[in-house]
Amino acid sequence: MTQQSQTDHGNPLRQIIQHTIDERGGISFGDYMELCLYHPQHGYYMSQRQRVGAKGDFFTSSSVHHLFGGLIARQLHEMWQLLGAEDFTLVEQGAGDGFLALDILDTLAEQFPEMYERTHYVLIDVSEDNRQRQQQNLSVHSDRVTWQAFNDLQPFCGCFLSNELIDAFAVSLFEKHDGHYQEVFVVNGEDGFCEELRPADQEMLNRHFQLVGAALLEGNRGEVCFSAQRWMTDVAEKLQRGFVITIDYGYPAQELYAPFRRQGSLLCYYQHTANDNPYQNVGCQDITSHIDFTLLQRSGEQAELDVLHFTEQYRFLIGLGFVEQLMALQAQETDPQRAMALRMTLKNLILPDGGMGETFKVLVQGKGVGQPALQCQRKISEISALSV
Ligand SMILES: C[S@@+](CC[C@H](N)C(=O)[O-])C[C@H]1O[C@@H](n2cnc3c(N)ncnc32)[C@H](O)[C@@H]1O
Repeated sequence: MTQQSQTDHGNPLRQIIQHTIDERGGISFGDYMELCLYHPQHGYYMSQRQRVGAKGDFFTSSSVHHLFGGLIARQLHEMWQLLGAEDFTLVEQGAGDGFLALDILDTLAEQFPEMYERTHYVLIDVSEDNRQRQQQNLSVHSDRVTWQAFNDLQPFCGCFLSNELIDAFAVSLFEKHDGHYQEVFVVNGEDGFCEELRPADQEMLNRHFQLVGAALLEGNRGEVCFSAQRWMTDVAEKLQRGFVITIDYGYPAQELYAPFRRQGSLLCYYQHTANDNPYQNVGCQDITSHIDFTLLQRSGEQAELDVLHFTEQYRFLIGLGFVEQLMALQAQETDPQRAMALRMTLKNLILPDGGMGETFKVLVQGKGVGQPALQCQRKISEISALSV
């Protein structure tokens, strides 16, 4: 896989990576992906560019409609009450342009002013470019919002929230041949970057797959996101009491490593087109993979985080009142064409095929909160607006 594209001619990041590979005699795919996404000057997330929305490379649920953040705000309000309706720290890591934070804070200010007054919204983002966008977009809530580095975050009570953060973490790539795991390394070839398989640490991988209760099938390729495991442990350590809400596309491990997924789930996004070649558009395209929700659940449990709920995004949103809110928004719309456009836009959040409803999942974990029944767990059969 060496094909280059227009964005690769004279590409400074490509040259930096080639040099690093020469120096080290090859780098693991995980290190390659880390450089492509997070090189301090030229990494995809670190350089100045439009990533989210029509002029970017991909859409996220918060870029689709403000209802997404509005419904999450309802869940956060319930969590605030469960924690005693006191000071509430809401940490969002990987906030992109800041629209989810904006929609949450707008909703809290409008519908739950008491909670708004007691909320401290902390944003964490590696990207200076994104931090600047967030500062601009959140200026109306400047007295409620601060920015911090993850390591500076003090232990807190409240909720740790992320939407499409973990899928951006660099992953290691492995294949299984003759019963042994091999790791994908990147080397310099005549026409660009090439892959090479090198022996992997069998014991470490066996332990990993034992933890998640799955394994790579002979001949298959799959990703392992070790940094997701470390992240979960770190988040659990920072949270004194409260909740963690993780929204992302992914699967339980058994499904992620299912026999039919022979090449894993790694994908790249460039100007709204998906491709499977991480060696082109170096630093100019997003590289991403589906996340292993079992890994988050098991490593969370090891760090005192209980699983409270795990479900598809459509069920989560419907539980929080998606249908009722859609009907209310439609009723306010007098123009039939605009009402239709609204329906089409909002459908994206819950549709299984091609939409974000099923591939996206929501994991809710808790620490020191017991097993409360949460609004997001409300069943579709309990929605009175749908009863005949
Ligand atoms: C795919 S975007 C998600 C954007 C946003 N949550 C939304 O819903 O539109 C990933 C975000 O995570 C940030 N990010 C990626 N890796 C990170 C890390 N290790 N720590 C903090 N932020 C990170 C990126 O800068 C970006 O803001």
